[in-house]
Amino acid sequence: MKILIVSPVSMHAVERLREDHDVICAFNAPNDEIMEKIVDRDVLVFRSGPDINAEVMKRAPSLRLLIRAGSGIDNLDVDYVREHDIPLRRIEGPGARAVAELGFALMLALARRIRTADQTLRQGKWAKHELTGYLLANKTLGIFGCGNIGSQVGELGVAWGMKAIGCVEHPSEQRASALAERGIRLTDSEEVLATSDFLSLNLPLSDSTRNLIGKQAFERMKPSAFLVNLARGGIVDEQALLSALNDNKLAGAGLDVHAAEGDGKVSPLAGLENVILTPHIGAGTVDTQYQIGEQILEIVAEFAQA
Ligand code: MLT
Repeated sequence: MKILIVSPVSMHAVERLREDHDVICAFNAPNDEIMEKIVDRDVLVFRSGPDINAEVMKRAPSLRLLIRAGSGIDNLDVDYVREHDIPLRRIEGPGARAVAELGFALMLALARRIRTADQTLRQGKWAKHELTGYLLANKTLGIFGCGNIGSQVGELGVAWGMKAIGCVEHPSEQRASALAERGIRLTDSEEVLATSDFLSLNLPLSDSTRNLIGKQAFERMKPSAFLVNLARGGIVDEQALLSALNDNKLAGAGLDVHAAEGDGKVSPLAGLENVILTPHIGAGTVDTQYQIGEQILEIVAEFAQA
């Protein structure tokens, strides 16, 4: 099969694919380059980053499989995919644990002021007595979106001694009892906003979640709360977050995802000491990407045989 891979995936998978297929790698290529390279391709493999819109897909008349090497599909024209009946395989499982663990890296770094501790010590300042922080234990961990990733965040929170509560778009008794088995109490967004000490965002970006966490949400939150965004930048109104942090309506934020991502983009929050910014590295563990690579191989093999 003719395969185009437009995002970095594990090289072991690329090498194995090359044994049986014609593979072009155009990692992080701009859309005009993707449009040139996709013309004769049967399979497109992508992660977050490239904009896989109708214009791109129209250029590939023989496109018969899309592999999303991860979970979010906010960068894919899903209507076009449906209309043209192009099979879409998402590899959602492996990234969840990695994203959830990064959430804890951010929460701990915020609670213990690791960024400032590291920075001041490198400047020769021994701020031992200024740098007091908070425990995660006994704090309320609120989760917006208790799917694959959010429920793992909740489970890890329970293991840290936190009280985990969450809300979902379509609550049901079944959902509540499945989450309760994992130690997470399902409630409404009002309670999650008003009572969380740490608020973790784990929901997909859609028309209904765009700018969901904005001025009104920050007004409901505790001024001592920390916000962690592991989902998509568009879910948080970054200007409202900047104002909330400047006005001490929030204690800090850890953001792995941003409204504008990519080289040369600087977050409007970059000047704040109580903000930690990472470049969408949630699923970026070697272990996770190896597992995703294995699943790409399985999907392609299955499809080639069909
Ligand atoms: C995902 O949706 O799986 C993540 O954003 C990871 C990625 O594609 O880089």
